[in-house]
Amino acid sequence: MQWRSLALALLLLRLALHGSLWLGFGPSPGLYQRLTLGAAAGKGLCRQSYGRYFAADDYGRRYGSFPRALRAQMRDTARAMFVFGYDNYMRHAFPHDELNPIACQGRGPDAGNPSNLNINDVLGNYSLTLIDALDTLAIMGNSSEFQRAVKLVIDTVSFDKDSTVQVFEATIRILGSLLSAHIIITDSKQPFGDMAIKDYDNELLHMARDLAVRLLPAFENTKTGMPYPRVNLKKGVPPDSNNETCTAGAGSLLVEFGILSRLLGDSTFEWVARRAVRALWSLRSNDTGLLGNVVNIQTGYWVGKQSGLGAGLDSFYEYLLKSYILFGEREDLHMFNEAYRSIQSYLRRGREACNEGEGDPPLYVNVNMFNGQLLNTWIDSLQAFFPGLQLFDEENPVHKSGNRYLFTTEGHIVPLDKRLRDSLWEDIFPRKSEEEKPENRLGSAEINGSCNCNRVPDERRYSLPLKSIYMRQIDQMVGLI
Ligand SMILES: *[C@@H]1O[C@H](CO)[C@@H](O)[C@H](O)[C@H]1NC(C)=O
Ligand SMILES: *[C@@H]1O[C@H](CO)[C@@H](O)[C@H](O)[C@H]1NC(C)=O
Ligand SMILES: *[C@@H]1O[C@H](CO)[C@@H](O)[C@H](O)[C@H]1NC(C)=O
Ligand SMILES: *[C@@H]1O[C@H](CO)[C@@H](O)[C@H](O)[C@H]1NC(C)=O
Ligand SMILES: *[C@@H]1O[C@H](CO)[C@@H](O)[C@H](O)[C@H]1NC(C)=O
Repeated sequence: MQWRSLALALLLLRLALHGSLWLGFGPSPGLYQRLTLGAAAGKGLCRQSYGRYFAADDYGRRYGSFPRALRAQMRDTARAMFVFGYDNYMRHAFPHDELNPIACQGRGPDAGNPSNLNINDVLGNYSLTLIDALDTLAIMGNSSEFQRAVKLVIDTVSFDKDSTVQVFEATIRILGSLLSAHIIITDSKQPFGDMAIKDYDNELLHMARDLAVRLLPAFENTKTGMPYPRVNLKKGVPPDSNNETCTAGAGSLLVEFGILSRLLGDSTFEWVARRAVRALWSLRSNDTGLLGNVVNIQTGYWVGKQSGLGAGLDSFYEYLLKSYILFGEREDLHMFNEAYRSIQSYLRRGREACNEGEGDPPLYVNVNMFNGQLLNTWIDSLQAFFPGLQLFDEENPVHKSGNRYLFTTEGHIVPLDKRLRDSLWEDIFPRKSEEEKPENRLGSAEINGSCNCNRVPDERRYSLPLKSIYMRQIDQMVGLI
């Protein structure tokens, strides 16, 4: 993800909130308009709800509440958008990797131009979109199409391709989706409806293993243990390969590789991913505890010294915590907590409380990893993903038991499961101390999720968290008013 566009993010984010993105949601009246109408229509009901955070002003009308009917409408729009994209991919592009929306035809790797990394890092000539969509079909509850798509993947997709892809992209998109779909198929509870596949013989798990084995050469012949960023699925690491990788690319493979290892009972995959995380961790600055964004896998030299939360680093932090939640390894929690402390000390600027006090709005900035000095205040699109995380489908099993599921960085879904709590790698990769033993409780699964949510009044649960005066402050800061 981290190579993708570094955007004008704060401005974009505000523009998005401002309505321009809303309008993208579809036919007239635009959502922004509907939002305004909705708030106006529910006046009697909503006026009080503006209370603490929103005065009954412009901001309150725009952002103050998110009525149930509108949420349901947005859920249906999201479904319709998915069906539109999926059907058109299947009609015009499959078995190619993706639909080129301008030409309305399929697109695969750019064989004529190997240095076209934007395309070639991601498109591996393996029906990427179909695989990527599997667990979404399941969450949407479309069992007939899920079953058809799984069969199609099993019958038509092969990874024996002369394609050079990015290890990270292939992992989060393909490996993640294959594993997620496999777990959904084999789940005895079937929360999304009947997603079982007749005569299923773990084919998706075997495919995941086949792909991961093809990625393994990236972890060989590197002096630090961090993987080469790219690998050819047929021939291994190309000669004269780039030795520089971004931190997220090398350091966020643990969720998918760990799940694969634990499902297969083969520690190899988790071990190489863990070794890469430890290598990166050992290279953090002794003074600030921060990591940079680009590193040489042979020398351990930091080529990119910028430390931040966005492109280049984002999913590294994310996967330390998610690995702990999934696998219960205390080592991962320890690293996450240390990293988090450094982030709070060196990256967070502005006033202490979000909704109180004087000073600039809080902001996570980008700094020099060695001394914490400010480099810039960009926020890129990767850092701004969070508000889009939650769908509004209250009936969906994911929503009803959110604490029992985890989304990978590419949005593939994995249930918390005792099967994933058995470490297999201790014999080859000993723990430093007893204290690092895995946590056996399924920690966050035990937290009663509905409980905390229910303490937030319904009308505030879906409103933006900032008070009007602070929204206005940000608008002024980026020149919107
Ligand atoms: C994709 O794979 C197919 C079948 O293996 C092959 O014929 C085709 O040339 C490949 N396309 C690209 C762009 O590599
Ligand atoms: C399932 O998906 C297919 C393909 O998008 C669609 O034609 C069908 O109507 C969907 N079924 C349901 C119940 O949503
Ligand atoms: C990568 O590092 C290896 C080992 O240090 C070196 O032999 C090779 O030339 C480097 N590759 C590039 C493209 O710099
Ligand atoms: C941090 O300190 C250790 C030992 O004190 C040293 O070996 C290591 O090179 C230092 N790391 C950095 C990035 O300066
Ligand atoms: C979770 O909390 C809700 C509301 O307090 C309660 O009704 C429910 O029984 C609790 N569920 C569990 C599993 O403890």
